[in-house]
Amino acid sequence: MNGRFWTIEDLDQIAALEKECFPVDAWNRRMLADSFLSGNFFGVLLEEDGVITAYGGISYFEDEGELVLIATSEMYRRCGRGNKILSDLLEEAQKRGIGRVLLEVRVSNAPAQMLYLKHGFRGLYCRTRYYPDDEDAIVMKKEFD
Ligand SMILES: CC(C)(COP(=O)(O)OP(=O)(O)OC[C@H]1O[C@@H](n2cnc3c(N)ncnc32)[C@H](O)[C@@H]1OP(=O)(O)O)[C@@H](O)C(=O)NCCC(=O)NCCS
Repeated sequence: MNGRFWTIEDLDQIAALEKECFPVDAWNRRMLADSFLSGNFFGVLLEEDGVITAYGGISYFEDEGELVLIATSEMYRRCGRGNKILSDLLEEAQKRGIGRVLLEVRVSNAPAQMLYLKHGFRGLYCRTRYYPDDEDAIVMKKEFD
């Protein structure tokens, strides 16, 4: 499974996947483009025959990163793509001198929480009614050694 960095041409497909994966709070193309072009963001993806199957992205400032996007297209889940995307993102974060990465995850999202725990993230605290539908978020953090 070979990953690569996003290009501007990928944004339409990623926006479509966002809609599929996040019914309540998907990023639209404009939000994706704003981050992508900010100079403080990198994204990686996996594709099969030109079709993007998984993607993720980190925004950062100085030595602190935030995992802002990660998803696998529904029919490709549980085959290792989420692991690969997160490993590639964390490797790139270290190359860029990022010392810690934070993220927010829904309290109900057990698959994502398991993925993050597996990669060394630990829960910090809860943000009450963080999401547009009032669900709480758990804030998690990974520190690089
Ligand atoms: C979370 C998500 C990205 C995982 O992607 P994936 O390609 O299925 O992940 P992988 O197959 O690489 O699995 C990696 C690990 O995630 C965890 N995991 C994934 N799906 C799981 C499930 N249904 N139940 C429990 N753990 C799960 C496991 O720890 C798994 O490791 P294992 O295979 O050794 O058990 C995927 O479920 C997804 O896109 N969800 C919708 C979008 C989303 O919620 N993104 C996170 C927002 S915070």
